[in-house]
Amino acid sequence: MRIEIAKNHKKIIIFLDNRNIEIHPLWLRERVNNSEFLDRATGQRLYDPSSLDQKLKIKKALIKKNNLRVEFTDGVHSDFKVNDIIGEIHKNIEKKKYFLWTGKIKRRPIFNYKFDIIENKKGLNLLETFYNYGFVILRSTPKKKNFILSFANSLGIVRPTNFGKLFNVKSKKKVSDLAYTSHALPAHTDNPYRKPIPGIQILHCIKNSSDGGYSTLTDGFSVANYMQKKYKNYFKLLTSVKIRFTYVSSKTILENWGETIELDKKGMFKSIRLSPRLDYVPIIKKDKLHQFYKARSLFIKLCNSKKFMIKFKLRPGDIMIMDNHRTLHGRTSYSLKNGERHLQGCYIDHDLAESKMKHLKRKFKK
Ligand SMILES: [Fe+2]
Repeated sequence: MRIEIAKNHKKIIIFLDNRNIEIHPLWLRERVNNSEFLDRATGQRLYDPSSLDQKLKIKKALIKKNNLRVEFTDGVHSDFKVNDIIGEIHKNIEKKKYFLWTGKIKRRPIFNYKFDIIENKKGLNLLETFYNYGFVILRSTPKKKNFILSFANSLGIVRPTNFGKLFNVKSKKKVSDLAYTSHALPAHTDNPYRKPIPGIQILHCIKNSSDGGYSTLTDGFSVANYMQKKYKNYFKLLTSVKIRFTYVSSKTILENWGETIELDKKGMFKSIRLSPRLDYVPIIKKDKLHQFYKARSLFIKLCNSKKFMIKFKLRPGDIMIMDNHRTLHGRTSYSLKNGERHLQGCYIDHDLAESKMKHLKRKFKK
């Protein structure tokens, strides 16, 4: 991408992917950051940009090295860094990049815990890796109960639910969710019945000497990508049929609707929802529904297949961080005859974790 000035010095042109795009004068005028227009302390505008002259034009523009000097027809002059303008345009067009993995993943994203891991360069590496893979595992954290809360709060802010700030995953006699039994749990995403759906799940292993109880992970985007390439019609159904997810207990009725594979407006994967014990398919034409059931069945099979799923045993002290909008998790059944199993889990949202990553990037990659 490059930026040039038209011969008459009244137009600024971006050259991008064999296209020429003229920058609208108001787009640039809104970005004038003189202290008259922008509050220095907060970086926020001191005026309502809708009050600008809608017929505003560029009177004169010049580029010298990395400096773009512009005079607008309302008498305002401003200097911009060309690189800043290019960076701003990139924010409009950049696509999220991530690594799609399968059951054959060679290097799993594993980190060793250090007390101040989040606030330094390792924290940046951890968060970037998390957003690249959709999960990370942190080894050798303190095996203390409730440690997960302070850890989660170092990444974002714990989001309490009707299960409390955290939930204990161990086998109990009277349970509110199958997670609290020793049954196997096939690949699923958590809580698609909530509004909004929790973005990140954190699980902390405190004890795991039981027989079985292996954890599983599947890259939902990788399975979606496979279906998009190999089973186009099924992919269409999974990205268009909205399902009702619900959780009901004596005091709670939670409900939300959404596609199994949600796409954004650019057609990129946005969110995976799979919770086969809590989903209610809508009544649509029988033939279409017939195809949908086939599509869902294949998706579930793939998510639980060796081709896409990884299986491993969490060790006491391990923390697993999962993108609940992308990565599916599960576990094999376990027996408590010869041991114990106790995990604690909680949720945080993506916004503060992403914010932390961007803040650390600004701090360490200047
Ligand atoms: Fe779960």
